[in-house]
Amino acid sequence: MSGHIPVMLTEVLQTLAPRDGGMYLDGTFGGGGYASAILSSAACTLYAIDRDPDAIARGAAVAARFPGRLHLVQGRFGDMLELMREQGVGKLDGVVLDLGISSFQIDQAERGFSFRFDGPLDMRMEKSGPSAADLVNKLPEAELADILWELGEERHSRRIARTIVAARAEQPIETTSQLVRIIHSCMPRDPSGQDSATRSFQALRLKVNDELGEVERGLAAAVQLLAPGGRLVVVAFHSLEDRLVKRFMQQAAGRGPGVSRYVPVAAERMAKPAFRLVSSNALRPGDAETSANPRARSARLRVLEKLEEATCSAP
Ligand SMILES: C[S@@+](CC[C@H](N)C(=O)[O-])C[C@H]1O[C@@H](n2cnc3c(N)ncnc32)[C@H](O)[C@@H]1O
Repeated sequence: MSGHIPVMLTEVLQTLAPRDGGMYLDGTFGGGGYASAILSSAACTLYAIDRDPDAIARGAAVAARFPGRLHLVQGRFGDMLELMREQGVGKLDGVVLDLGISSFQIDQAERGFSFRFDGPLDMRMEKSGPSAADLVNKLPEAELADILWELGEERHSRRIARTIVAARAEQPIETTSQLVRIIHSCMPRDPSGQDSATRSFQALRLKVNDELGEVERGLAAAVQLLAPGGRLVVVAFHSLEDRLVKRFMQQAAGRGPGVSRYVPVAAERMAKPAFRLVSSNALRPGDAETSANPRARSARLRVLEKLEEATCSAP
């Protein structure tokens, strides 16, 4: 199994700017690529969260390389306020989130994330709770179609949902390749060359792991944990996530149109914004990175900095 190549690592280090004595949080430890680089770049302390027990188990080797400086916590970054409180952590000098799944997860057929490999239709980062198979076998047709439409932006959502419901009446859908065959049977070949199962797999993964809900909760919690001068760095890989990150950061910096229920109330009410956008547009990976690592192609990095101490109330 190949490892995970950290995406936009140079830009993450430049914008997070770890300093000696600082305290940081990596909310998506994954293969530990960011974590190792942060700990190597400054004599700082790093808390690292991942909801996948396999990622935390792999992290022991990284922790051993940085004695006493890396603290691994299994859980969801949406719960980072509670998780950090349990660790006795108050304020942080920076938080980084690298959204989505790692190559370790997608390349392991038995995790069921990829339509390219035959495996159980699972997709659970935490290895617990309802799986993708539970959704496709149990949800009513209309609900399935809504998920494909809203989380996969799949134009043929109704047709695919109808075909899934007909197929599961014959036989339960238990593997990734069964689902791929069902989708292919009712979909035209995509002229772009993209596999016609791509969007449905994305939608199911986002739903199984409540990934957009996690992003909303994680952003709101991260800004409450930041010390003045602290930065929130987020790398997103698809438009639904990036849109949430962009809106949240713009509103926190007093630039957004409406009022988000996720931006801490006190920060919104302040005459002067309590945060600033470090760069008004998202940073993108360079050509050298995207040719070396095609998975970096869709990455967008956004950075928010806390300017002053705001009395943030929970959203
Ligand atoms: C793209 S990988 C991170 C890779 C990491 N930056 C590196 O350099 O190795 C995303 C990781 O975040 C984890 N993850 C995704 N959503 C999460 C959440 N809500 N809470 C905690 N971990 C999450 C996944 O399990 C995965 O291991």
